[in-house]
Amino acid sequence: MNIDLYERIWMWGVAVVLAVFFASTAVAALGHGIHPPSHIETIDPAKALGDARFRKRGVSMDASGRLHARVVGLMFTWLPAEMTIPADTPVTFQLTSIDVIHGYQIVRTNGQTMVVPGYVSQFTTQFEAGDYLVTCNEYCGVGHHTMAAKLHVVPQSQWRSPTREVADVR
Ligand code: CUA
Repeated sequence: MNIDLYERIWMWGVAVVLAVFFASTAVAALGHGIHPPSHIETIDPAKALGDARFRKRGVSMDASGRLHARVVGLMFTWLPAEMTIPADTPVTFQLTSIDVIHGYQIVRTNGQTMVVPGYVSQFTTQFEAGDYLVTCNEYCGVGHHTMAAKLHVVPQSQWRSPTREVADVR
């Protein structure tokens, strides 16, 4: 069978590109341990509001002095709808949903995660001082566009820390 030179070049090009893609995926997954998160921390959506991890929502400080922001999403609001955290300080956000999938997005920052009923989503980040809008970026129903919250990031000197929890619930 005669294969034209140009066809041959394109076939080899495609083969090389595919090989690079598969190799880079293998290096990331096996070499660097990069995996999509799955089944890491589960929760019963029907009992989430009473769960020890989300009974006290908002900003708290654990026994080691680290800040946590615990948020529950539901149609069509975030609980709490307003939080204040200090600037330039790592805060670990833990989120869950009691009904459908929502998307927690702190606009113009890298703070963003899907919020899935049955699971606890988590990310840690820090912010410059300012007022940030939090939106929902997963369509969740007729009130989706109204599902918003506010995040106030104040200079550390203006921030009053919450009392430490006696025992870290996590
Ligand atoms: Cu919640 Cu869209």
